Amino acid sequence: MKKYHIITFGCQMNEHDSENIAGMLEGMGYEFVADPYEADVVVMNTCSVREHADKRFYGMLGQFKKRRDENKDSRIVCVCGCMPQQPRVQEEIKKSFGWVDVVFGTQTIGDFPRLLNSRIATGKKQFSVTANSPVIPDEKEPKRVYEHKALVNITYGCNNFCTYCIVPYTRGREKSRSLADVVDEVKKLASDGVLEVMLLGQNVNSFKDGEGNDFPTLVRYINEVEGIERIRFMTSNPKDLSDDLIDCFRTCNKLCKHIHLPVQSGSSTVLKRMNRRYDRDRYIEIIDKLKAACPDIAITTDIIVGFPGETEDEFAETLSLVEYVGYDSAFTFIYSPREGTPAAGYTDQIPYDVKHERFERLNGVVNECSLRNNSMLADQTVRVLVDGASRKDENAYSGRTDGFKLVNISSGRDITGQLVDVRITDCKTFSIDGILA
Ligand code: 5AD
Ligand code: SF4
Repeated sequence: MKKYHIITFGCQMNEHDSENIAGMLEGMGYEFVADPYEADVVVMNTCSVREHADKRFYGMLGQFKKRRDENKDSRIVCVCGCMPQQPRVQEEIKKSFGWVDVVFGTQTIGDFPRLLNSRIATGKKQFSVTANSPVIPDEKEPKRVYEHKALVNITYGCNNFCTYCIVPYTRGREKSRSLADVVDEVKKLASDGVLEVMLLGQNVNSFKDGEGNDFPTLVRYINEVEGIERIRFMTSNPKDLSDDLIDCFRTCNKLCKHIHLPVQSGSSTVLKRMNRRYDRDRYIEIIDKLKAACPDIAITTDIIVGFPGETEDEFAETLSLVEYVGYDSAFTFIYSPREGTPAAGYTDQIPYDVKHERFERLNGVVNECSLRNNSMLADQTVRVLVDGASRKDENAYSGRTDGFKLVNISSGRDITGQLVDVRITDCKTFSIDGILA
């Protein structure tokens, strides 16, 4: 049997795209292999949201090129995802990596089997990238990473054009699937034994299908699907978070008590320059309403430090907002200029050492909040959906609470895929330890 390997960079969207690509390859008779250098077909699913992912991609491609130049490599190398959506990257691939066999984008994933077959049949390189397809992709039969939980796309693309973000250029305009399609998919997943669904979109709150159904309506429908125990969603833009959705935290018993609500900055002036279309007061109002509707809700966020022109006072507003909200955790990022976005052209870029120093200070405050929140779970019994065995310890399993906290559980038996009660024994900044209750 021919073997494949997929290297995935970036967000859950990409992870799910990779599950779909894996499903296609298995449908074509390929078998997964853990070592990319043993694969007949290797797919690199790329990300361009920050420079770091960008550099790792070129580094890895360089490794494949070296082996090919040394005649050690006859595998088929495919590149997809957000990088080839950018014209400058298309040029770079053609110029420096012209040997890449198949290139496709975020909106032409469905073409992949045809492209791969053409490459094999003709020996010719294949290229299929569409800038802004109006077509809502047909969801394929994905090969899921987990049996007990599943990623489900509900919207594709983004219309927001935050000034730092490359996503609207790589994933195109926003499109919503139909409520009926999503609910059918969730029902099928439930009948396959899936307990938790994560509804995915760049901005799930602006879900609106052709029949006018909105996101809270979708959540209420999914809450009724038998067999599903947990519903999560990612990501929400605060500007579109409605009171109706906040109400779902009160009324939908399966909706996890967790919201990931990227704030990006605590300063209204920075938010304006980011084109986020909410300000600090509006964000705080949403947080207060969420806490009132669901007092033990866990709140996580994304924060960018060192956005062009960010002053020390503006940064201090981010620190004070983190304290006010008391985040359970936060993904923190150093601003990274992305070519083609408005902010990359702003002349008041912040020097790297200033950005880095702010980043360290921010992480200090975020970590204190995380530890404070995690410590509140000491000696409590919590329900955990177990993802699998720990790589380091064969008697340890890890999973997530309703509030998305990572829990390491010691257990002599395999509890993968189960919802178990766990008594918390130790609380740390990034995880919690416990034993089966
Ligand atoms: N620089 C730094 N962080 C960024 N993000 C998006 N674009 C950039 C950028 N140019 C972060 C945002 C977003 C997360 C997915 O990545 O915080 O929410
Ligand atoms: Fe990027 Fe903003 Fe869209 Fe999120 S909402 S993907 S940050 S443009």
